[in-house]
Amino acid sequence: MKRKVGITETILRDAHQSFMATRMSTPEMVEVAEKLDKIGYHSLEVWGGATFDSSIRYLNEDPWERLRTLRKLIKNTKLQMLLRGQNLLGYKPYPDDIVEKFVEKSIENGIDIIRIFDALNDIRNLETAMKATKKYGGHAQGAVVYTTSPVHNIQHYVDMAKKLADLGADSICIKDMAGLLKPYVAFELVGAIKQAVDLPLQVHSHETTGLASMTYLKAIEAGADVIDTSLSALGSGSSQPATESIVATLMETEYDPGIDFELASEVNKHFKEVREKHKDKIVPPWVNAEILRYQIPGGMLSNFFNQLKQLKLENKIDEVLAEVPRVREKLGYPPLVTPMSQMVGTQAMMNVASPKGPWSIVLVDTKNYLKGEYGKPPGEIDEEFRRQIIGDEPVMTERPADRLEPGWEKAKAQFPSLSDEDVLSRVMFPELFK
Ligand code: CO
Repeated sequence: MKRKVGITETILRDAHQSFMATRMSTPEMVEVAEKLDKIGYHSLEVWGGATFDSSIRYLNEDPWERLRTLRKLIKNTKLQMLLRGQNLLGYKPYPDDIVEKFVEKSIENGIDIIRIFDALNDIRNLETAMKATKKYGGHAQGAVVYTTSPVHNIQHYVDMAKKLADLGADSICIKDMAGLLKPYVAFELVGAIKQAVDLPLQVHSHETTGLASMTYLKAIEAGADVIDTSLSALGSGSSQPATESIVATLMETEYDPGIDFELASEVNKHFKEVREKHKDKIVPPWVNAEILRYQIPGGMLSNFFNQLKQLKLENKIDEVLAEVPRVREKLGYPPLVTPMSQMVGTQAMMNVASPKGPWSIVLVDTKNYLKGEYGKPPGEIDEEFRRQIIGDEPVMTERPADRLEPGWEKAKAQFPSLSDEDVLSRVMFPELFK
């Protein structure tokens, strides 16, 4: 009996985000785009996450133009993006009409599959983007963000998957951004979700802790339909398991992903050259099992170390890493994914750096989080701690976007000469256009 497992190639998005600070340029992609289209992937992840921000900030590129260019060259393979739910590709919630417009334009410019997640697994932060994706004819993939904590168990994720199915998800993704999902847990988790919801299931992990390729194998045996990998030039380490290794494992078995191995190897040569060009930005590909304790996700690692350097805290790295789980506990165990990874990471640095001790300096973002502006934390917040940080300020319990006024017409009026796409870029990253 055959059960083909699909491969999502991440080299144009997550792999270079995790491995070389999101610096791959459009020309570096274009050169092999048509070949990538012929390899036989289930989809190519090409957009979203940090790529939008990075192409404007560091590469002087228009991310929309990148998407249109790739769409023109990649005619058959589905193009996929990663969306931070109500936060879009930014770091705070946007009004519903802006979320809807962004989704509409993403699909119009070439995206087929939108993977949507919320850092807190607060389903209310996915609703608008999920509905908009369906409305504009896209494939809405609802993601369950995986982490470990006293409040995260199999049932938590199964419940979330059921809610995503109720919202009309076309598929479910287990998003393991820090490589924390262990092989036998994955077997149980995938089995439980497959049993609870009748939808295709995709697994996304990072090889940061050295577990991911084993985890993929057990996930596949338990019924996972699609997995995320990156060509070996930017595979493994803080990125996804290497495409060639996974394909070699699966080919000529019942799970044969139908990948042109020769062509994949040929395309990989190109990305080895790209990697050489960016070698000053490369995160060393060694396995870091400390992450099983600290839970710093792959995508955050390179920026985290840069930030430590800027704050002259390199010599306190062990203290900062040890502070991360303490901050996380105080905040109700948020998964460490954007924007929570930055918030928890920076707060941990502040707690270590401040001469007056932990929590004597509190980030505005941390305060807003404790006021409920990001959604419902997975665990309980100690009320005394909350009062210590935000005083008597009210804590909101409604859906974070409910208090936001519609913003699209206002934004359009502000930039009447710009295309809808450019208005959206400005709404998300106003500081980059000053
Ligand atoms: Co990732």
